Amino acid sequence: ALPKKVKIVEVGPRDGLQNEKETISADVKIELVNRLSSAGFANIEAASFVSPKWVPQMATSAEVMERITRRAGAIYSALTPNMKGLEGALAAKADEVVIFGSASEAFSQKNINCSIEESIARFVDVAKAAKDHGLRLRGSISCSFGCPYQGDVPLDAVADVVGRMRDLGCDEIDIADTIGVATPRKTQAVMERAASVFRLDGISGHFHDTYGQALANIYASLEVGVSIFHSSVAGLGGCPYAKGATGNVATEDVLYMMNGLGIETGIDLDIVVDAGQYISGILNRKGSSRAGNAIAAK
Ligand code: HMG
Ligand code: MG
Repeated sequence: ALPKKVKIVEVGPRDGLQNEKETISADVKIELVNRLSSAGFANIEAASFVSPKWVPQMATSAEVMERITRRAGAIYSALTPNMKGLEGALAAKADEVVIFGSASEAFSQKNINCSIEESIARFVDVAKAAKDHGLRLRGSISCSFGCPYQGDVPLDAVADVVGRMRDLGCDEIDIADTIGVATPRKTQAVMERAASVFRLDGISGHFHDTYGQALANIYASLEVGVSIFHSSVAGLGGCPYAKGATGNVATEDVLYMMNGLGIETGIDLDIVVDAGQYISGILNRKGSSRAGNAIAAK
């Protein structure tokens, strides 16, 4: 049987916007987060304390975190690649911090400028400081299904990083398809392998929709018991260090599917559709959520 309830982590304000070429004002980001908060998300990834030279769009993260209206009980997350990032997240009162590594050696170098081994060593202090301050800790594993630089990524490589993230004390671990290459059976194999190393109820699926497989992969993940998924309003996004990768699976599409399956999300789809139309209007293009555009056209 499929899970009765899932947690949807809205990553649009971070993963969705980080790759936009034009600078988006803090006011717009704040308005977007506030709209998403009022839709009922229990978890919104709102900030990224990374080097502004690497990802200029996220340079306003402190201001965004300071000025958003926080919904009681909701978790506002921030990416923290190192201690400098963690200090930023602490000052910004993030509820959860995200250490992000990779199952692919080549991608680790391109994205965070170090080897997998070095990244884990760097995360030790970040994880400890996060725990000492009572923050929730999440570990994200890029290229768990394939890498833009090295191609195939073995299951053992994913399992190895899942184990390391577990040992660092992560409360939740994201199995990420950075470039959207996974297909459903492969998804199940990777998820089952991850679940042999870490609690199944702490594993999340982070799917990009580059090859149009994301919803199918989410359904396949549900079949093996995964109950946390990441998505991005209006299908925003792409990673600056994964050329050609498109956005995350669109939140509206995921919610439409969950509603149809009778799986509880606690999120108001209509408010998310409006938020998607809002940010698409600002970006001056049509959003890529099929369900979002269909509902908005009614
Ligand atoms: P580095 O150049 O090796 O680090 O970058 P460094 O320690 O030598 O620092 C270089 C400069 O950056 C210094 O400044 C530091 O102060 C500054 P300078 O002295 O030259 O003026 N710096 C920072 N500034 C602000 N905040 C910080 C910070 N750290 C250093 N935290 C580093 C290493 C990790 C910093 C860099 O590679 C980086 O910022 N990478 C981030 C890349 C990124 O954000 N990628 C996108 C997010 S991951 C993603 O999207 C995937 C995900 O969605 C899952 C999936 O789909 O796969 C999560
Ligand atoms: Mg991503």
